[in-house]
Amino acid sequence: MSGMRPTGRLHLGHLLGTLAQWTAYDPGDEMFFEVADLHALTTGFERTETLAASVREMVLDWLAAGVGERAVLYVQSHVPQIAELHLLLSMIVPVAWLQRVPTYKDQIAALGGEIATYGFLGYPLMQLCDIAVMRANVVPVGRDQLAHLEFGREVVRRFNNLYGPTLVEPQATLSDYPDVPGTDGRKMSKSYGNALELADDAETTTKKVRSMTTDPLKIRRHDPGRPEVCPVYALHRIVNAAREPLIAAECRTGILGCVDCKSELAERTNRYLAPLREKRAGLDPAQVDAVLASGGEVARAVAAETIAGVKRAMRLP
Ligand code: TRP
Repeated sequence: MSGMRPTGRLHLGHLLGTLAQWTAYDPGDEMFFEVADLHALTTGFERTETLAASVREMVLDWLAAGVGERAVLYVQSHVPQIAELHLLLSMIVPVAWLQRVPTYKDQIAALGGEIATYGFLGYPLMQLCDIAVMRANVVPVGRDQLAHLEFGREVVRRFNNLYGPTLVEPQATLSDYPDVPGTDGRKMSKSYGNALELADDAETTTKKVRSMTTDPLKIRRHDPGRPEVCPVYALHRIVNAAREPLIAAECRTGILGCVDCKSELAERTNRYLAPLREKRAGLDPAQVDAVLASGGEVARAVAAETIAGVKRAMRLP
């Protein structure tokens, strides 16, 4: 089981990181992928008007990338049992455990004290509830989520110690994502405005690639360049792997100029993304609703069983 907050259209960094991890599982595995809209509320509660569109755009990208093929896709707020489990577990979780999770202080430092709501404090507990309600044993995530998983495991152990073995202790599986630089050389991120989005049209991608920063010391066409500091080269390594050694060599000697190098990258990136874009364009937004509706049904059924077990364990009348 894993999840993503609905941030709208995804980019090349997501495709090579999270989505690659989500589509690489064994045929026998049962997978649940959640649109974490309630988690989005923890920091975005005053901007809910774009939420529905963000969910749709993101799920279109999931489906186009092949995430939906054998997995259950659903929206967090369609599974009320997650909120119910959150309330039940909140009784046994010391506030200090939540305050100790590093993202809590980090996010307040980054976003300001106003985000420090009751719900925001509970972010990692809600994440554990997402996982535990599906009885997931394996959670594919990025490194930044490890502290949340560790916290979640502690909560599960506490519950099981108090009420008997009921909840499954989840295991994080990490994949080392390739570092995907954005057009300005920083990590590709929507919030930096440097992302090559999966759903961009070819022309937009070409324009963005043409605007990319390169080695600042390579000023004229025939100046020798340093591929290792150039984000254009870093992307060639990903979408143009076969030609990459030659590109590095020709950049170093000054045979290859940045304009030509970028043209080739734009063309390769568009070719790399073409199948996904074609698939996405063929998807009907109504299909997204249908996928999420049937996924929600499955998720609620699994979650209801878990809640029944939890209430039994707690001896609720
Ligand atoms: N917190 C995760 C993130 O910010 C998203 C998420 C929500 C999640 N619920 C989850 C990840 C459950 C794994 C499992 O990326």
